[in-house]
Amino acid sequence: MKQKIIIANWKMKLNIKESLELAREYAQKFADEAATGGKEIAVCPANIALREAKDIFAPSAVKIGAQNVFWEEQGAFTGEISVTMLEEAGCQYVIIGHSERRQYLLENYEMAHLKLKTVLDHSNIIPIVCVGESLKEKESDRRDYVIIDQIQQTFGGVQILSQQQVIIAYEPIWAIGTGQVIKPADADTMHEIIHAALVDLFGIDVINKQFRIIYGGSVDSANVSDFSQLDNIDGLLVGGASLKAEDFYKIVKGI
Ligand code: 13P
Repeated sequence: MKQKIIIANWKMKLNIKESLELAREYAQKFADEAATGGKEIAVCPANIALREAKDIFAPSAVKIGAQNVFWEEQGAFTGEISVTMLEEAGCQYVIIGHSERRQYLLENYEMAHLKLKTVLDHSNIIPIVCVGESLKEKESDRRDYVIIDQIQQTFGGVQILSQQQVIIAYEPIWAIGTGQVIKPADADTMHEIIHAALVDLFGIDVINKQFRIIYGGSVDSANVSDFSQLDNIDGLLVGGASLKAEDFYKIVKGI
């Protein structure tokens, strides 16, 4: 059994003060490893709150991640943030290719591929690569094809060293922030498909030892138990329901 990981993505929903207040509540709830029930907990706040949030989390079991990274290591790239900066700020995780960035900033899987390579080649940060289909793709029965294609574009030609860890988040776009939850059995099937596509690229040993496949999209404290019995789900990526410490705590307990 892989250690389950539950990741909070605070998106751009909190200002700095609110982020730090919530960080304090998280640090209290997850004061030590025992409070997490043996699960790994990570929070991805806005970049501007990263350093201070990291200090707040330091005595607790909460780890910190970023919501994005640029694919070049350094240079004239106004407004971007490098993997070295994230590592300096104490990040252990970074989200790559979130569908909101694909939608609003026109990011594509070629960019996700470059980001993934930079993170793996130049840092010890664990990438959290997002994949997921739109409603249109789902309804036209192209879901499996779309997901496999996203994985191949992102991971094709990438080398994973034996000590490296990777997380894939399956986040169907139609389920993000909509309250429309995937049927758990459906999520389980998609995770199997993702697993198989990754095995094709890296082999079963690497996937079983170094990859975790997590689910994201309208998970909350009421529906989390639906995901707890599924064999292929190694954790959760939580948006809206991570904005209240008590709700997130219940999700961690419930998975
Ligand atoms: P919601 O949990 O708000 O649906 O967001 C999911 C998500 O996008 C996490 O990255």
